[in-house]
Amino acid sequence: MFHHLYLTTFSTYLIVILFIALILILIELNKKPSTTSTDLPEPPSPRSLPIIGHLHLLGGYAVPYQAFTNLAKKYGNVIKLKLGNVNSVVINGQENIREVLVSKGHHFDSRPNFERYQQLFGGDKQNSLAFCDWSETQKVRREMLKTHTFPRACSNKFSALEDIISNETSSLVTRLANGPRETKNEILYSCANIFTKHFCSKSFPVDDPGFARMIENFDDIFYEVNQGYAADFLPFLLPLHYNRLEKMSELAHEIRHFLIDDVIDGRYESYADEEPSDYVESLIQHVRNEESSCMSWENALFALEDIIGGHSAVGNFVMKLLGYLVTRPEVQAEIQREIDGCAGSERRPISISDRGSMPYTEAAVFEAIRLIASPIVPRAANQDTSINGYRISKGTLVFLNNHDLSMSEKLWEEPDAFKPERFIVNNRIIKPEHFLPFGGGRRSCMGFKMVQLISFGIVSGLLQNFTIAPVDGQTYKIPVGSLALPRSTFRFEFVSR
Ligand code: HEM
Repeated sequence: MFHHLYLTTFSTYLIVILFIALILILIELNKKPSTTSTDLPEPPSPRSLPIIGHLHLLGGYAVPYQAFTNLAKKYGNVIKLKLGNVNSVVINGQENIREVLVSKGHHFDSRPNFERYQQLFGGDKQNSLAFCDWSETQKVRREMLKTHTFPRACSNKFSALEDIISNETSSLVTRLANGPRETKNEILYSCANIFTKHFCSKSFPVDDPGFARMIENFDDIFYEVNQGYAADFLPFLLPLHYNRLEKMSELAHEIRHFLIDDVIDGRYESYADEEPSDYVESLIQHVRNEESSCMSWENALFALEDIIGGHSAVGNFVMKLLGYLVTRPEVQAEIQREIDGCAGSERRPISISDRGSMPYTEAAVFEAIRLIASPIVPRAANQDTSINGYRISKGTLVFLNNHDLSMSEKLWEEPDAFKPERFIVNNRIIKPEHFLPFGGGRRSCMGFKMVQLISFGIVSGLLQNFTIAPVDGQTYKIPVGSLALPRSTFRFEFVSR
């Protein structure tokens, strides 16, 4: 009887348990497939070699990102690569790139952990604005920067920046009119002064040796961070770079001293907690506010250095833009027609407020940005996730092939040609959705407005006063796939008009 009862009770339990299990299974089946599910397929991957993995597949290309485009033809838009000891994926195609940057931006907001970045930023890459992982501090740093790097049109900040760019451009024109000079030095000097004046309310005379040294140091470091190193993936090669890294570290120290002694110059102590007038004061105010501060003054100085260093990016880019223009007199003539139409018969100097009525000039800036096809700084997955239905494990390094988005024959007519008019529709600038030179989402470039405004200001100032002619014997092959140019690079002849 008991036995029977036991069986009966057991059967009832069994039926209830089975019923609950069935309901749970049905609920599970009805759920949308989880993007982090481990049963998603791995992305396709070519056969790899011992130790170097797939590194050999990236060799032999003028721009390593061309290798990614070729691999995509064979393996599809999401490809898994083992680069030395680093698990990586290469993402091709606008949809997939947007998935990483925007719809799953919060899964991919970290940056790779290259030892080189740690060493370049005082032993901790979290000090760097561009190479740190996502954190509350980074959120605050970006928030604080916004008002300074994206000044709203018609605001006081914008008109102050407009004056700074106009003054620096006019002094650049005077210097270039006075005979042949190393153009890159002159452009970098102007950009550096625009940056220190805008962010730190301080400018320097052209013959200031400390300022000149700071500019050189920034340019050397900028060149360095823009290089790809096999040692990033094969750390046992790092000792080969120790001397170079040591040198970079020394340059960074010199920059730090110059910034503290000559640029900030006692303002931390003297700041009287008023409304911050520039980025330096925003940083001081934040650091001093003990309740909400997430940064020490030491950390804040790294943020300041990173932003002042942005002048090297603008300067190197302007040099490349001039490199495209010097061999294209017809593009220069078109920009000059626009400038002269806007400046009127009294030849008023053009300023950045004229951008709205000078679409061709602005489009020439975009066209140069497209052609140099600088890579989006690689991202890293901060959790197990997926891209286009493929499994991506936490920590995977993510390369986004925006070189293909900028140069694909499917997306652009004659992609190798310099044609600013491709960005103009009905006399207005239109940027296609696949044009993503500054990345996107929560780690997007913080300096793109500065790039556009300063390049526009300098190029229109130069072409209002000069026609840029080639120097005998000089070739103008613009290196692409990176922003940086060597310290000594092409020369131009500035012919007064
Ligand atoms: C032509 C010049 C430039 C190009 C092509 C460029 C492009 C980029 C790209 C592609 C990224 C990565 C975006 C992403 O991961 O989604 C980036 C990040 C960044 N850029 Fe630029 N950039 C330029 C100039 C500048 C300048 C002048 C500044 C400073 C004023 C600047 C500040 C930054 C910062 C702070 C980040 C890191 C943002 C973060 O990781 O949260 N950039 N830039």
